[in-house]
Amino acid sequence: MLPEPTARLRFRPMRRSDLDDMTAVLSAFDPVRPGEGRRTRDDAVRWIEWQERNYAEHDFGLWVVEKHDGTFVGDCGLTVQDVEGVPHVEVGYHVLPELRRQGHATEAARSVRDCAAANGVEHLVALIRPENTPSQGVARNLGMVLERTAHVHGAEAFVFGMRLGQS
Ligand SMILES: CC(C)(COP(=O)(O)OP(=O)(O)OC[C@H]1O[C@@H](n2cnc3c(N)ncnc32)[C@H](O)[C@@H]1OP(=O)(O)O)[C@@H](O)C(=O)NCCC(=O)NCCS
Repeated sequence: MLPEPTARLRFRPMRRSDLDDMTAVLSAFDPVRPGEGRRTRDDAVRWIEWQERNYAEHDFGLWVVEKHDGTFVGDCGLTVQDVEGVPHVEVGYHVLPELRRQGHATEAARSVRDCAAANGVEHLVALIRPENTPSQGVARNLGMVLERTAHVHGAEAFVFGMRLGQS
């Protein structure tokens, strides 16, 4: 499965040769989490390996998002997340700092949401830390609403979600 291209963006599977770009996007300073440890190149290696397992197991994962000229933008896609013991399909997104606030995450995530709907996902969530207002903005742009809070990966998270109809 692969989301449809959009006006500015296209998707492709993440591969080992994306390590430099994925390190850049994952280790970037995050203004909403200024005190938190930054992810490393080794984390990016594990991130790419995780997507390879996701593609094999689910036929989805986080895909590389790039402009039509091949410029790397970030990643966006679907993963299965455990929310207090129950698996949920989550939409996730990461954009290079210099390309943020231009609608890239929203544009990519809308195509991922439509791809999920077309492939039978009935309920899509985004697990977002309360301080991460940019990510909440993307979730709202997708039509998600705050459904509840949950304990995820050792911290309190907002569970944004929406029902998806089969297209
Ligand atoms: C979250 C992230 C992917 C958003 O990417 P983006 O391409 O800048 O998002 P968009 O331009 O589509 O913005 C969508 C909405 O988010 C909100 N938003 C984005 N950046 C914001 C900011 N710095 N402050 C407040 N709201 C913001 C706005 O509501 C915006 O809509 P608007 O442009 O109409 O005002 C990006 O900030 C990022 O990579 N953050 C680090 C990784 C991350 O936190 N991922 C999500 C994990 S849950």
